[in-house]
Amino acid sequence: MGISTKFMGYNIKSPIVVGSCGLTSNIETLKKIEQAGAGAVILKSLFEEQITQEMNVNVKVYSASFSGYPEAYHYIEEHTKGEVISKYIKLIKDAKSNLSIPVIASVNCITASEWLPFVKMAEEAGADGIELNMFILPSDISLSHEDVERFYEDIVHIIKRATSLPISLKISYYFSSLTRFAQKISWLGISNLNIFNRFYQSDINIDTFDTFPVNIKSSHDELYNTIRWTAIISPEIRCSLTAGNGVHKADDIIKLLLAGADTVQVVSALYDEGLNFIVEANNKLESWMKEKNFTSISQFRGKMAVKKNKDASAFYRVQFMRYYSGIE
Ligand SMILES: Cc1cc2nc3c(=O)[nH]c(=O)nc-3n(C[C@H](O)[C@H](O)[C@H](O)COP(=O)(O)O)c2cc1C
Repeated sequence: MGISTKFMGYNIKSPIVVGSCGLTSNIETLKKIEQAGAGAVILKSLFEEQITQEMNVNVKVYSASFSGYPEAYHYIEEHTKGEVISKYIKLIKDAKSNLSIPVIASVNCITASEWLPFVKMAEEAGADGIELNMFILPSDISLSHEDVERFYEDIVHIIKRATSLPISLKISYYFSSLTRFAQKISWLGISNLNIFNRFYQSDINIDTFDTFPVNIKSSHDELYNTIRWTAIISPEIRCSLTAGNGVHKADDIIKLLLAGADTVQVVSALYDEGLNFIVEANNKLESWMKEKNFTSISQFRGKMAVKKNKDASAFYRVQFMRYYSGIE
């Protein structure tokens, strides 16, 4: 009771889940995250790209000594991959021996077959679940929306067969029919859907004709998109829902629970405000529940989701007609 809830089949003491990021790749910070009162943590993702980059460095360093040995490249590839994965497995083991909240491993999946052995190793290392951080930019003109969706479905099928761990799928909003896709993927036996991931964005330097990264962290303005889709998707899916992207104030946690999230993911606010944000958000949630006479989250979760609240039909509204916005 109180602010406890469920996440990927586990009872957790707070609906705040610290999302995958640099903060969750360090054991000392992970301990502080638990002390601050987070309900669960998702470790920094292991990226296929990261392995390839380190492999390229190793190939450069060792190529002189291996020249003339055609099997050398394969050796370096396997060795590098093994090293990167071993480091990650150590992080899982350290996290599990130091924390009592659920620890979810995260993998950036592009090809499922690459990750099957890793998923097994993560399970053996004690991870409480796997989050698939999946995204392909739907930019390939030869791919239909069915092709793009099948890519997600196939990976979920394959990973599900390889592990008995609960699976969370983290997605973006780049789907032509987001609600239908969310529903379809939730029927494939995932435990949790995490909306939304955030992506690298580039700006253009008009003097040097270079590109450079912008908006690494979210801003509070992004919350409203998350509230809308949480209110629309939450009544339609058959698994639990984690909502995030734009959470920067303690009240935002309450808003996303009202919109139908089971748990709320926080990352950028922790970079900006420090881990005390978790303490303040939990306190705010408790005091708000007391003021409104709620003794458990289930009493109000989804109260503002579409289909449950007439006023929530506002989340379907998209055009700025004067009648609604008050501005011509
Ligand atoms: C510095 C940084 C690193 C991140 N690294 C990852 C990552 O490795 N894997 C992942 O799934 N998401 C990653 N994310 C995305 C976050 O987990 C989260 O989905 C996103 O930032 C939206 O939440 P927020 O508004 O609370 O920041 C990262 C975000 C930031 C700001």
